[in-house]
Amino acid sequence: MKDSYYEHIIHGGDYNPDQWIDTKEIWDEDMRLMDLAHVNSATVGIFSWSLTEPEEGVFNFGWLDEIMDKLQAHGKKVILATPSGARPPWLAEKYPEVLRVEESGMRNEFGVRHNHCLTSPVYREKVGIINRKLAERYKSHPALFMWHVSNEYSGECHCELCQQAFREWRKKEYDNDIEKLNFKWWGGFWSHRYTSFSQISSPKFRGENHVPALKLAWRRFVTDRHISFYENEIKPLRELTPDIPVTTNMMRFYTAFDYQKMSEKTDIVSWDNYPEWTAPDMLSVACETAFAHDIFRSMKNGKPFYMMESTPSVVNWRTENKLPESGVHELAAIQAVAHGADSVQYFQWRKSRGGHEKFHGAVVDHYGKEDTRVFKDTAKLGEALEKLDKAVGTRTKAKAAVICDWENSWAVEAYCGYRRDARDYFRSCQRWYRGFWERSVPVDVVPMDRDLSGYDIVAAPYLYMLKDGVEEKLCEYVENGGTLIATPLTGIVDRDDLCFLGGFPAGRLKDVFGVMCEETDSLYKDEESKVLYNGKEYFGRDLCDVLRPGTAKTEGTFLSGFYAGSPAVTRNVFGKGQAFYTAFCAGDDFIADLLLRIIKEKGLEPDINAALPKGVTARKRGELLYIMNFSREEQKISLEKEYTNHLTGEVIKDAVLPKNGYLILI
Ligand code: GLA
Ligand code: ZN
Repeated sequence: MKDSYYEHIIHGGDYNPDQWIDTKEIWDEDMRLMDLAHVNSATVGIFSWSLTEPEEGVFNFGWLDEIMDKLQAHGKKVILATPSGARPPWLAEKYPEVLRVEESGMRNEFGVRHNHCLTSPVYREKVGIINRKLAERYKSHPALFMWHVSNEYSGECHCELCQQAFREWRKKEYDNDIEKLNFKWWGGFWSHRYTSFSQISSPKFRGENHVPALKLAWRRFVTDRHISFYENEIKPLRELTPDIPVTTNMMRFYTAFDYQKMSEKTDIVSWDNYPEWTAPDMLSVACETAFAHDIFRSMKNGKPFYMMESTPSVVNWRTENKLPESGVHELAAIQAVAHGADSVQYFQWRKSRGGHEKFHGAVVDHYGKEDTRVFKDTAKLGEALEKLDKAVGTRTKAKAAVICDWENSWAVEAYCGYRRDARDYFRSCQRWYRGFWERSVPVDVVPMDRDLSGYDIVAAPYLYMLKDGVEEKLCEYVENGGTLIATPLTGIVDRDDLCFLGGFPAGRLKDVFGVMCEETDSLYKDEESKVLYNGKEYFGRDLCDVLRPGTAKTEGTFLSGFYAGSPAVTRNVFGKGQAFYTAFCAGDDFIADLLLRIIKEKGLEPDINAALPKGVTARKRGELLYIMNFSREEQKISLEKEYTNHLTGEVIKDAVLPKNGYLILI
């Protein structure tokens, strides 16, 4: 599989000429403006089904032919979308089964988008037809560069077709043996012994919503629905355009289905990035965004991804849609590239004149000309991106990893107990990620079943559920020399949410960590745990594991709770490796101190050796070193050696980074 598809960073975004079909002079103006904005790509056709197939079986590709040719004439790469994200009214009117049924059991009426059944044979057939037509028509078009399949797949459907498919799927998984299901779902509880698969249905507010195993099964099923829907979509594309890469755009920490699984089916991972850059703590926003980039980059073992959407100014869907100042968008785009993006793309090229998103930021405003702040900022960024060919296709190989697993996030959401509002799994993972990120140490963010053998350090926060084989994998990893870090609630349940018996963490993990967790305490909202480690006091929140020490050496102890004096931080040597158990939900300071110690011990190289001021981070990708200022203040930096500014050619050692500024060095 290729690592890059174009020699330049893709710069462009969602382009909806189909909304301007009556004012075609705008199309020519768009071409002129795209050239001026240093845009080299356009994503076309996402929501154009009602124009392309105005009546069942009647196709109108004239407009698309014209726009593809225009884009080609202006040297733009076309990312062509399949239109399944929103269907034409005639389709819903004629075949109501294509519309989604909500959890309430009510079928939706025609409206909005993403409002389709994922099982409906009619919908799959209709999508298959339009996709085939598109592939047939444009397979040889020189502008066709990539397929953008649907748009932000999401949601679920509870119709009878989906229920039936769910039951069939359960049957298959449990060898058509309802007793197997009863055992896995612990059917003895609340008299839930099923006698037939026909008694199973999706989790519902007014039905079954207290069986965690059902919730996990449903999420796996919804994943399966999305993947099989997607596979149906790409069949004609693969057949007719085997050399054109396929992607589908994802949304940050969206967990209704398993992105890590879906990513295996795409040629390139892409995601839509909308951080709230104007929020008070810009550094935390930058960390969260970096974390997301690294999740998507890690899906394909470091292969570059596309940032398929971002906004050049504001969104329209927050409560307050505050304008970011100039420079922020450029910094955010450079951050994406630094973390492995081979594209900087927008929603949207031009603001729509009407409809729900007419006030969403765009490169071209309703005003329509190039002398706006946003347009000028975009063009300036476009010029910078043109100088980053060296970045394209380069992978980062990290020696550290944080495990952050979609399936585990479902399990954490599904249990009842402990502190019920302390289950922000992604935030827990991000806290450990930050310990590496702030120190400019490259880090991957991987699912739990990924091969860990290449990593020197693996942090596995809140690894509550273990998929089959993961216990053994973690044992092997440490045995062979790895360093593993765990936090409260590790190794509690199996993939079906059955608790492991014989003490937590599961099975041999007790030997790996050299401790057993006997009880887990939950703290009140404002309560803090207190821990003494290495002569320093630290505070934690939410949860504390009360550990029974085994072979592990206690390095830190609780100073709070009835378990004061019991181990809060332990280290166990196991085989050639070591395993740390942090029995409290530590804050940034403890995580930073512990990680720094291990990073030094294991000799992990940060991307930069010079000490950077707070709020300034560095990231190396290929030969280029990116230094980014998220502190909202001007910062002076002093580098450990002379570098060349890749964009200006100037040699620098000491530099002033303006507010929202960045440097790309070589
Ligand atoms: C998503 C969608 C776009 C648009 C933007 C608005 O990412 O894919 O079509 O609605 O949100 O931010
Ligand atoms: Zn359905």
